[in-house]
Amino acid sequence: MQRLFAFLVVVFITKSNDVSGDFRPPAVPLIVFSPHISVWSCSDNLTDSDTVHWSGSPLAFYGLIDIDNSQTYRFLGTQPSNIPPLIQNNVVVQPWRTIYKFSTPTNTIELIVSFSQPTSIEDPYTYITFDVRTLDQKTHNVRIYFEESSRLSINDKNEKISWNRIDGDITILTMNSYNQIPFGIRGDATRNNWGYAHLISSNKNTTNGYQGFGDNLRQAFVNHQIMPNDDTRKPRHADDQSPSSVFIINLNQVTSTTISSYLIFLYDDLYSMLYFEDWQIPCWRIELNNNVTLLINEAVSYYQSNMADITDSNELLITLLTNTGGTQYSLLASLVTRQITGALTRTWSNKYNRPQLYMKEISSAGDISTVDVIFPSSPFFLWLHPEILRDMLIPVLAYANNETTIDYNLSWAPHHLGTWPVCDILPDEQEQMPMEESANMLLMLAGIVQRLAKTDFLQPYWNVMEIWAQYLNSTLPDPGNQLCTDDFEGPSPHNCNLALKGILGLGAYAILLNSTGQTQRATIYMNQAQEHANYWMQAARDDENYRLQYDLPNTWSQKYNLIYQSILSLNLFPSDVAKLESNYYATKMLDFGIPLDSRSKLTKTDWTSWIAAFSNDQQQENEIFSKIYKFANESPDRIPFSDFYNASNGHVLGFRARPVMGGLFIRALLESPLIENIYIQPTKPSQRRGRVNKCELL
Ligand SMILES: *[C@@H]1O[C@H](CO)[C@@H](O)[C@H](O)[C@H]1NC(C)=O
Ligand SMILES: *[C@@H]1O[C@H](CO)[C@@H](O)[C@H](O)[C@H]1NC(C)=O
Ligand SMILES: *[C@@H]1O[C@H](CO)[C@@H](O)[C@H](O)[C@H]1NC(C)=O
Ligand SMILES: *[C@@H]1O[C@H](CO)[C@@H](O)[C@H](O)[C@H]1NC(C)=O
Ligand SMILES: *[C@@H]1O[C@H](CO)[C@@H](O)[C@H](O)[C@H]1NC(C)=O
Ligand SMILES: *[C@@H]1O[C@H](CO)[C@@H](O)[C@H](O)[C@H]1NC(C)=O
Ligand SMILES: *[C@@H]1O[C@H](CO)[C@@H](O)[C@H](O)[C@H]1NC(C)=O
Ligand SMILES: *[C@@H]1O[C@H](CO)[C@@H](O)[C@H](O)[C@H]1NC(C)=O
Repeated sequence: MQRLFAFLVVVFITKSNDVSGDFRPPAVPLIVFSPHISVWSCSDNLTDSDTVHWSGSPLAFYGLIDIDNSQTYRFLGTQPSNIPPLIQNNVVVQPWRTIYKFSTPTNTIELIVSFSQPTSIEDPYTYITFDVRTLDQKTHNVRIYFEESSRLSINDKNEKISWNRIDGDITILTMNSYNQIPFGIRGDATRNNWGYAHLISSNKNTTNGYQGFGDNLRQAFVNHQIMPNDDTRKPRHADDQSPSSVFIINLNQVTSTTISSYLIFLYDDLYSMLYFEDWQIPCWRIELNNNVTLLINEAVSYYQSNMADITDSNELLITLLTNTGGTQYSLLASLVTRQITGALTRTWSNKYNRPQLYMKEISSAGDISTVDVIFPSSPFFLWLHPEILRDMLIPVLAYANNETTIDYNLSWAPHHLGTWPVCDILPDEQEQMPMEESANMLLMLAGIVQRLAKTDFLQPYWNVMEIWAQYLNSTLPDPGNQLCTDDFEGPSPHNCNLALKGILGLGAYAILLNSTGQTQRATIYMNQAQEHANYWMQAARDDENYRLQYDLPNTWSQKYNLIYQSILSLNLFPSDVAKLESNYYATKMLDFGIPLDSRSKLTKTDWTSWIAAFSNDQQQENEIFSKIYKFANESPDRIPFSDFYNASNGHVLGFRARPVMGGLFIRALLESPLIENIYIQPTKPSQRRGRVNKCELL
């Protein structure tokens, strides 16, 4: 509570009248645009800890400010530790921007540091903007120091690093692993150790770049010494006088009028995904002639327009979210936006002559495009950009349809494609979740078709969809001893929530058939689904609720899958079912939310938001979301927002930074008007920047 009062004194005013200064995110996203470039601050103050990868491994940036060549302060990171921090007045996390507001202890200078992410998922860079003004009616001389440590370009400190600079109108400080071996490393917490990290300044008049031992560069700055010449002892290991890239921005005389300057951190993967022997490049490369200089030029020349786009998109999204679910809901959804998009990679395939899109599971496994991880994230995409969800499912459909170099001979949908960033998994090596994944695919495809009003992309895949629908029908109404997505709970045979998903999945198949005029077959499948639903309502029923397993009386579980009935406007289960369940969940409320089921106190952030959304009672829905907010705001575990925790004490039980948080957008999807492509307002980036579009499938 103490924090809350402290922050009330300084309410941060933005155009949308933000009150987010009250919110304490468990970790703050700074530079988050891919699974490997995912930089977070895991403390209240930006100076309380060094920034880290989502996994916790070090990815340090350092920021210092010097005033009148006499007093130096830290604003980012813990080093040098003898230098005092600026006072942090607040931090605000918007969907595509994080803003920190600082002042000197004597209130002479204000510094606002923001990290802005272009809203298009094709752009692998973040703008770091520094807005400075004086608060004491005087003029002060101000210099800003910004350092990127060596670790951004490697996976492990034992790797050799090299560096380089280009001085032109734009200054580019590059760092990279010396041994470039694309796809030489794969895994969950591992990071790409190929490609190039670029720190970029567009203003050579005010900015000087340096490359060398980070400790020396920092010391030279704080001691007002002449900065050392660029270090030439390369390549060398990252822990051998750890090399850094540094810019010093000389703002000269600052007055009460804000002076703004910016840097860009950009990562060029060169190769982003190995999809069954097909080496795929980041998609921007096909639009920009395979030339990173063009991307860098674009990031600079479109700075104003990208920043305006980010501001507009933030405002639109925050307004819609606030109108839908209030301030706390808006803050939660804002916090997770880059967590979701940062798990994606869009590539270009020369072999298939089309863009491809992938999602990394993150922290529970390094799996690529796990179908039961895409599924919980789906409300975000169905609301904001159904094309992205469609494009994400196509590599899975293609694999299941024998379009890759591995034959897929299972009669159900795949679980995933491989371990990031290499797709190579054999059907037998899958973590088999037959009903789970088959139904997930059909449910999401139906959601996409309804929202896009397009069906042409389904054309090659009728065969596999039919196989999956047949599989569901043959296993329903009782899935037997199958694994479902909540596998951390252990096996749960005859699982009612899984059966529910299978039944809705059959209904989804009927929708797909119907959408292409196959009306008779649609009716047959819909009737079949209804028959299974009727069985379910009898067999799953307990006294006051529906069971965890058909065969276990006196049990209960969150039937979160039922939300897809609302998403698809299906009518297989009468509204009494949701009502009965909702009323029952209300009796299970703990301090930090509702447990997943009768087995323990553990819960899932994403699924809980789904049961909140099928409550007919606004008050109950608000209460459940306020518990999720409480968890985010109070959990003692300072890691990127977790979806797996103890509903009784708010402690994280595992999982962090996962894109499944897209599930929180369920409320917006069901209760807010559909909006077209907020991502890329006002026009697609390719159009806006005069590129020939290749990455947006039409
Ligand atoms: C954050 O910094 C402020 C001063 O800027 C300080 O009062 C506060 O204790 C710091 N918070 C933590 C958690 O260290
Ligand atoms: C840099 O200085 C030159 C010469 O004074 C000026 O023409 C140019 O506009 C300046 N560039 C920037 C980005 O401020
Ligand atoms: C990349 O683009 C820049 C800027 O147009 C150009 O100078 C350079 O020659 C290009 N590089 C290649 C390899 O085409
Ligand atoms: C893919 O190939 C396997 C093995 O040849 C076969 O069993 C399966 O039916 C094929 N799948 C499709 C969708 O054609
Ligand atoms: C799929 O093919 C593999 C490799 O040929 C084989 O071992 C496996 O038994 C097949 N699975 C099915 C379900 O046919
Ligand atoms: C198919 O679509 C039509 C027109 O929207 C609708 O009337 C009919 O109920 C649908 N059939 C099924 C089985 O969903
Ligand atoms: C579903 O399975 C049952 C039992 O095997 C079968 O009688 C029925 O025809 C199947 N329905 C469809 C639509 O294939
Ligand atoms: C959850 O927290 C409660 C209360 O602190 C504790 O009794 C219980 O063992 C915890 N459960 C799990 C799964 O951590």
